[in-house]
Amino acid sequence: ERYNYGVVGLGVMGRNLLYNIADHGFSVAGFDLDKGKVDELHTGATGGMEIKGLASLEDFVTALESPRKIILMVPAGKPVDAVLENITPLLGKGDIVIDAGNSYFRDTERRIADLASKGLHFMGMGVSGGEKGARTGPSIMPGGDLEAFKLLKPMLESIAAKVDGEPCTAYMGKSAAGNYVKMVHNGIEYAIMQLISEAYDLLKRGANLNNDQLYEIFKEWNNGEMNSFLIEITRDIFRQKDSLSNAYLVDMILDKAGAKGTGKWTSEQAMEIGVSIPTIDIAVTSRILSAYKEERIKASQLYPNDDVATPENMKIFIKEVGDALYLSTLISYAQGLALLVKASEEYDFDIPLKDVVKIWRGGCIIRSVLLEKFYSAYTRNPNLSNILLDEEISEIVKSKTHSLRKTASYAVSNGISSLGIQTALGYFDAYTTEFLPVNLIQAQRDYFGAHTYQRVDREGIFHTSWDSTNI
Ligand code: 6PG
Repeated sequence: ERYNYGVVGLGVMGRNLLYNIADHGFSVAGFDLDKGKVDELHTGATGGMEIKGLASLEDFVTALESPRKIILMVPAGKPVDAVLENITPLLGKGDIVIDAGNSYFRDTERRIADLASKGLHFMGMGVSGGEKGARTGPSIMPGGDLEAFKLLKPMLESIAAKVDGEPCTAYMGKSAAGNYVKMVHNGIEYAIMQLISEAYDLLKRGANLNNDQLYEIFKEWNNGEMNSFLIEITRDIFRQKDSLSNAYLVDMILDKAGAKGTGKWTSEQAMEIGVSIPTIDIAVTSRILSAYKEERIKASQLYPNDDVATPENMKIFIKEVGDALYLSTLISYAQGLALLVKASEEYDFDIPLKDVVKIWRGGCIIRSVLLEKFYSAYTRNPNLSNILLDEEISEIVKSKTHSLRKTASYAVSNGISSLGIQTALGYFDAYTTEFLPVNLIQAQRDYFGAHTYQRVDREGIFHTSWDSTNI
């Protein structure tokens, strides 16, 4: 008996994805060097699943039907190369290896070329939705070899999350586009998480609200236009009690944020290809700053901030913070999507933006009802360079800018750090300004370095010898 699919790496993600595939009528073999994980695969399986766990790579490869379709669910970086080194000699022409981890897109490009030289297909495929998503329906972002993709499509569509009956998976473009789209997904994820944490701080420290009240606020937000996975889990986090103390768990968690790299890559990429994504940048750097806990303690003693005011009208304040969170979140998506537009040109990925937002509507960490509006926007105009330029989106934006300004000023005047909110607003103000003051920067550059400038009134490149003329 030959299995339809193979999964390498039987950690929680790999195992759950494997079960999900098996649930949809495909037979799947799983491989892990760790015999314990192979056994766990069998223990956790439910009746009717046609699966087999193996701890020998040779047996695993032989157990698969041809062309082999092997999904790697191993940590990004060296582990992927290690698996490839061991498995490629065992594979035959036309076999397909799909990397479903958060791999760096440059690594994927290299691996595509490497495997192609051996007659093998390699694809980078973003998978979002965490452990639960992998089991019950993630958002899946495959890219690369179109022929190989076509072979996988029916399976991917059956295991992906569904929105209005439509699967949250689509072809994301050529080469490493799948990993690139997932990287930007994560960049946006970083920004939204940062913004939610700032809204939390404003309500908690800036308005003295407790976890029960926060739970109610997030519940209300999640029931309306802000409905999203991240708002929903934040609501529930405020209700979780700690098992080690009597407190709420969130209050017992140390304020040092971790990061595995995808957010940083997004920022690096934006710098590399010239796209402004300040809210994502600030989310990355805020996690970095949070790690300097000991220094922050010293600094907080040196520069105490004990006069945080209370908002005049609590109801209005909460509404404004909600609107500010909504709009700054929208602006973060706008930045991430603008990066995808540019990367698609720059790297010739051919990323279908409309499909990106379509498949982010369900299954993934950044799913939200807002994506429905983006989907309509790209349906109206698939070549939209920035979501803020869509007329219907602009109506939403205009209805919330006042709240964003009020919230940003409240944070500034009360000394509550809100880097994400400030940069979202700052980006918006810069992006929507016809004349930026960089004419002066150009003058300075030309003054001290003869870097030349363009003029507003005629074509061409100009240089002035500043200190000798008209001064
Ligand atoms: C997802 C997530 C996931 C990511 C985690 C951790 O879409 O399911 O993006 O892929 O690994 O969010 O990321 P950090 O450890 O960098 O926060």
